[in-house]
Amino acid sequence: VTSVSAESVPEQDPFAVFDEAVGIGQVPDPYPIFDEMRAECPVHKGRQGQRFGLDNSMDELLYGDRELYTVVDYESVQKVLRDNETYSSSIMEELNGKVMGHSIIEMDDPEHRRYRALIARAFTPHAMGRWEHDVVRPIVARMVDQLVGRERVDLARELFFPFPVHVIVEMMGLPAEDVATFHRKAAELILILVDIERGLAASQWLHDYFTGIIEDRRAKLRDDLISMLVEAELEGQKLTNEEIIAFLRLLLPAGAETTYRATSNLMVGLLQHPEQLAALRADRSLMPRVIEEGLRWEPPLTGASRLVMRDAEIDGVPICAGAGMHVLTGAANHDPTRWEHPERFDIFREPRSHLAFGFGQHVCLGMHLARLEMSVAIGEVLDRMPNVRLDPDAGDVQITGYGFRAPGRVPVLVDPA
Ligand code: HEM
Repeated sequence: VTSVSAESVPEQDPFAVFDEAVGIGQVPDPYPIFDEMRAECPVHKGRQGQRFGLDNSMDELLYGDRELYTVVDYESVQKVLRDNETYSSSIMEELNGKVMGHSIIEMDDPEHRRYRALIARAFTPHAMGRWEHDVVRPIVARMVDQLVGRERVDLARELFFPFPVHVIVEMMGLPAEDVATFHRKAAELILILVDIERGLAASQWLHDYFTGIIEDRRAKLRDDLISMLVEAELEGQKLTNEEIIAFLRLLLPAGAETTYRATSNLMVGLLQHPEQLAALRADRSLMPRVIEEGLRWEPPLTGASRLVMRDAEIDGVPICAGAGMHVLTGAANHDPTRWEHPERFDIFREPRSHLAFGFGQHVCLGMHLARLEMSVAIGEVLDRMPNVRLDPDAGDVQITGYGFRAPGRVPVLVDPA
């Protein structure tokens, strides 16, 4: 991420903050290069930015001046993510930790296990029934109500971007009038990538904001996620304010931005393959496999980061303690030894597990929620927007980006109801 300056990121537009801060558009398509790397060797030593036309600034932010390895095939990626004693998540302290605080994403066991057990209850498949009924469906329906009747809609900006934020805000039980400010501050956290001061200021603002809400919940519990965190107890221990705040500050970037990108990418896959869209429209029982294929084909995040804790070896390549390890889950999702023509979006291919949500102890805590949100949003678009199709006058729609991928816009035409 080089060409972004803090000044170029508009004050009021979280959409632009997200996309510009992560350099969407800088790398149109890293997949041919992932293929090249995978064909050469499952593990690569040294900085790889140049291959993608990037300088080393992102690697330096993530890994400092450490030696760096990158793994690209399915088996090696899974091996690294499975072994969190050799490959530690603590590397995330250096960037994420600055703005979020000490959150689950940077913890190792045994701390990670304890903390995850405390917060997992709200994210189990069982908990989804309630979130679907009380939160996700009403929010998506309300937003689609606003769009119905229009001939032209940008589904990315007008639906897929805002709805997951509203879902998180309602799950947390935040006052509705705070949504806009909360959203902007939470989006600014990610500015740590380009403007440390603004990222830190947003972090402090959210700290003070959440402290007030947590104190309210400690005084009087409600039926929301923050009350659940306040109440959660394991072996007599409760979460401290700082622990709760770190988790809440992680949730928006972890849960909203990813879901927006994943839903947009999947919709692009469907719109670019009208016969597959028609098949889904005719048979909604295809939805689960459609979602998995979308996540496999164009995961919103292409990588995760780890720190090598002890000397190791992957496929005969020695890995040195103290190095950074870049785990290209996106490249693993296109491993041709696992999927035929992996570059093709094909909802009818034999379903096989992919790595869009990571793997192992840190596998995405919100994956059931993400699948639910994607399914409700795509289902509602098909139900309420007759003959939805790509707008031929809006030009080419392309999913772009290296670490974070999204189309930026999903312009569609809709028939009158
Ligand atoms: C399609 C959407 C999503 C994708 C592709 C995604 C992807 C990921 C990935 C790859 C990780 C693992 C990171 C690592 O190993 O270092 C992760 C972790 C996490 N995700 Fe998601 N995520 C999505 C949606 C969500 C949602 C909706 C939430 C919650 C509202 C969420 C909350 C989390 C949390 C809390 C973690 C940290 C888990 C841990 O460290 O134990 N994610 N996600």
